[in-house]
Parts: sequence; C-alpha cells; structure tokens
Amino acid sequence: MEINKDIIQGARIRLDRIHGLVEELGQYQLIEQQKDDLGIDTKSSKMDLVTRVDKESERVISTWIMENYPGDGILGEEGTKHNPEAYYQWVVDPVDGTNNYAQRFPIFGISVGIKYKKVGVGGIVHIPALKEWFVGVKGEGATLNGKPIRVGDKTELIHSLACTGFPYDKGTNPRNNLREISAMVPKVRGMRRTGCAAFDLCCVACGRFDIFWEMTLKEWDIAAACVILEEAGAVWKIYQEEREISIVAGNSTLVQKLMPILTDSTL
Ligand code: IPD
Ligand code: CA
Ligand code: CA
Repeated sequence: MEINKDIIQGARIRLDRIHGLVEELGQYQLIEQQKDDLGIDTKSSKMDLVTRVDKESERVISTWIMENYPGDGILGEEGTKHNPEAYYQWVVDPVDGTNNYAQRFPIFGISVGIKYKKVGVGGIVHIPALKEWFVGVKGEGATLNGKPIRVGDKTELIHSLACTGFPYDKGTNPRNNLREISAMVPKVRGMRRTGCAAFDLCCVACGRFDIFWEMTLKEWDIAAACVILEEAGAVWKIYQEEREISIVAGNSTLVQKLMPILTDSTL
C-alpha cells in the first residue's frame, strides 16, 4: 500500500492537533497520582491493574477524537473500539505503565499511534514525569523534545544495555520470559526493566537502550513507538507468533544477534 504525502500530512496534522490534549492529560495524571485513592482495580490477573485515571484518560482522548475526526477509528486499551473499518485508526494506550502509576513510580506515559490502512504513519509517546515527548512521523524522522534521535550503533551484545518485560500471566504460564532472560543476562553489559513498554521502545529509538524484547504486548503498547523506532533507524521484528505480540527492537546488527537466542527452542 502506497503511503503518499497527503496521508502523511494527515497523520502529522492529527498528532499536532492532539498534542495540547495529551499535555493536559499528562499534568492531570501527575496530579491524580498524588491522591490517596487511585481507584485501583484488577483486569486479566492480580498483576494486571487499571486505575480511575486509565479509564478517564481514555474517555477524554476518545471523546476528542470522535469530536474532531468522527470518520476515524479508535482502538483503546480500556475498551474503546470505534469505526474499525476506517482508514485512519488511532491506537491509544492512555497510561502505559499502570503498575508503576499505581505504585507512584514515575515511569508511565501516554501513547498515541496513528495507522493508515494498518500501516503505522505516526506516533507520540509522552512521559509526563520526565517532560519527555517522543514523536515520529513516517518519512519525516523521529524526535525527542524536538531534537532528532537515532538508534544506538553498538554491534556487540556484551557492550549493550538491554531491556525487557514480563507477561501478566507469568505466574501461571511457563512461557514467561524467564528462560530468555536467563540466557541473556550473561551475554549483555546490563539489563533493565522499566515497566512501560512504549517508553522502553522509545529508549531504543534514542540509543539509551541498545536492545529490547518482550512477549504478550498489545497493539496499543507498540503502535506509536514502532513508527518512532523506524524513523530513528531502528528495526523491530516479531520473534514468535505465539504469546500475542512478541517484539524485539534495536539496530539491525543487534536484532540479528538476538533473534536466534529468543527463538532457540532448547531454551
Ligand atoms: C504494560 C507495560 C509493561 C509491560 C506490559 C504492558 P499497561 O502496559 O507496558 O511494561 O511489561 O506487558 O501490558 O498494562 O501498564 O498499559
Ligand atoms: Ca500498555
Ligand atoms: Ca495501559
């Protein structure tokens, strides 16, 4: 499918227009996070949380999209599914890193991706506590707070800072990333887990992390960040078809080195 300049311009305008709302929501999330009662509930497991702010943030974003782009579609983590046949689709994670949010740990963010006929054409990941804005528009590059970003250029795992995450069913499903992390820890310089996959992927895009992998991610975790990665010269690949979205990201050399480890059936 050819993504022409009008489609790209449509994505850029949409991201520019929603920027102010995302900024306001980020401030709201920081203020609400200091309150005594965060309205915490569980979803798929006792490890998978949702707060009042997740639901309210998604309501605010989807209301804005429906008012401003009534013909567009929306897929939101907290249940919004609107116009699934529309060409432009907004893919929204209103709070990525809810476990962090609920613990008052500051690494959480808002992720808004835009797809056109299923192709990622734009994305914003905003981390309010860090005042960081990662933005990518297809063919126009990726930025962090307005400055161009680039994936790291390391070529050896042993020089790399790696990052990963664990699925919410890690207590019951044996495919829970423990074997992969055991294989990786001895091979890399350092290993991190931030608890906010959109941020992790953006940290790969700007060279803070050299590689990242995680299984069981969802569309809303990766939609915005994948455009940012591509525009920063990084590659991302799906390393297995099971366990929902299993993604690995980094520069092409490191991704090539990581793939056989993640897909090693003897693990
Ligand atoms: C989660 C975070 C976390 C990742 C989980 C995601 P949520 O998103 O991105 O880092 O390990 O797999 O589901 O639930 O906080 O939006
Ligand atoms: Ca998420
Ligand atoms: Ca979320």
